[in-house]
Amino acid sequence: MKQIKLQPLNKEVEVSTDSTLLSVLLEQEMNVLQACGGQGRCATCHVYIQDGKDSLSPKSEQEILTLSFITSSKVNSRLACQARVWQDGIVIEVPQGMYIGSIGELKSLIGKRAQQNLIHPLTGEVLVEEGKLILRSALEKMAEIDSSFATDLSQILLPPKKVSV
Ligand code: FES
Repeated sequence: MKQIKLQPLNKEVEVSTDSTLLSVLLEQEMNVLQACGGQGRCATCHVYIQDGKDSLSPKSEQEILTLSFITSSKVNSRLACQARVWQDGIVIEVPQGMYIGSIGELKSLIGKRAQQNLIHPLTGEVLVEEGKLILRSALEKMAEIDSSFATDLSQILLPPKKVSV
């Protein structure tokens, strides 16, 4: 077993050696979207390692590639689904909310109140603050931040095409 600390919760937890950080977050009942199913391809499990980064398994090529697309990535960034706990002394900075995996997932939440901050997975920008109503404007905001979502957005926001007979 190994001890790790979650910040800013200031919480120490004991985990099995070789557990992924993702399993630790899920055991703590944190909402992690896992849009790629833990394959290291979506960045919805992005965390920062405040201390003990050498106590984790090294980054895989896939993790390095995915992190290279995230503008909020830092030298201490890790994908929780890829990083395994090998030694004691790890301190994780957990996200202040939940990363959204795609504009479609954000769309499915429209009309609801955000249970926590909803965060863009690439930039780390808060799209909807905790407690606020999730509006269509959040879709536009997400598309503004990352133009790769613009095509999806146009399909969502444009009225349906008229079919001529
Ligand atoms: S769950 Fe997708 S990168 Fe970790």
